Amino acid sequence: MKPVEVQSKTHQTRMNRRKFIQNTALTGAGIATGVAAISCKESDTKALETIETASVPLAKPTYISISTWNTEKANTTSGELLAQGKPALDAIIDGVAIEEANEENTTVGIGATPDREGNVTLDACVMSPEGDYGAVLAVENIVHVAALARKVMEETPHVIMAGKGAEEFAYTQGFKKQKLLTPSSEKAWKEWLKTSNYQPAINVENHDTIGMLAMDTSGKIAGVCTTSGLGYKMKGRVGDSPIIGAGLFVDDQIGAAVATGMGEEVLKTVGSFLVVELMRNGMSPQKACEEAIHRIVKKGDRYKDFQVAYIAMNNAGETGSYAIHEGFTMMKYSDGKSEAIVSDHFTKKP
Ligand code: GLY
Repeated sequence: MKPVEVQSKTHQTRMNRRKFIQNTALTGAGIATGVAAISCKESDTKALETIETASVPLAKPTYISISTWNTEKANTTSGELLAQGKPALDAIIDGVAIEEANEENTTVGIGATPDREGNVTLDACVMSPEGDYGAVLAVENIVHVAALARKVMEETPHVIMAGKGAEEFAYTQGFKKQKLLTPSSEKAWKEWLKTSNYQPAINVENHDTIGMLAMDTSGKIAGVCTTSGLGYKMKGRVGDSPIIGAGLFVDDQIGAAVATGMGEEVLKTVGSFLVVELMRNGMSPQKACEEAIHRIVKKGDRYKDFQVAYIAMNNAGETGSYAIHEGFTMMKYSDGKSEAIVSDHFTKKP
């Protein structure tokens, strides 16, 4: 596209204009928006400066990390590693490790809510920019199951390991045995046993998975998710999080998506794969997340009782998120800035 000509009033403004044209030249969207903005404001230096600031997000970010829920510390850790030039997969596994080790977080790692028999069992998976995948299911006594899923991907001829076998494999890889049920999660479980009432509350018991997606400075995309699944689930229950295409899908040529919420519903719609395929067919990450949520809600009224949310990014560095219900937040870190983006949702009143 031809560069836009602007008559600047000062040398400084000319310099800014050059910078602006460079920025907008990075993406088609940037050019289109920049042209429109400049044609309105071209004689106004102050306005031009404003336009320049506004144009920055239109350029492809140098790197980007997004994560589910209010996981700012984890996502910022990932973002800062990306800023240092670390590969996407390294950054996100170190990022989610913060929450896996956080005893206050009752849905991931140590301190997570157990199944109804008091066992804490964890699920996780990773996907690399090369399209490789590794997962662990129903693992006990290991805190950093995302890192373990990576070991399955890189150190075994398999892609999924479950239960005792996955745990034993972890010890061969140097992982420590750790009790995952903490005094606090044990107390809450004993309290729950008094009624054994299984009704996962929206954004509480079914607010769970930490999913994280990143694009590194070389433009490569990777994803991870890690969870204890539904609180007080039946022994042996596994959700969407460790299952390729359901909880997570990455296609470095297109983008990536990760899910959180009621895993059974994500599994039945192969949600993350659906989001990536919709992006492959031209949808923005935002529209693709919305369509994947619509596939769930159009099946009937049951969605009123559970939450599902998706976050996604494409290989142009655009991101999106959408949930069934209010209360879902996506964290985003790119080019040195952390943002909490409150997600739009299906049940929003018109
Ligand atoms: N989304 C996590 C699970 O349902 O297990």
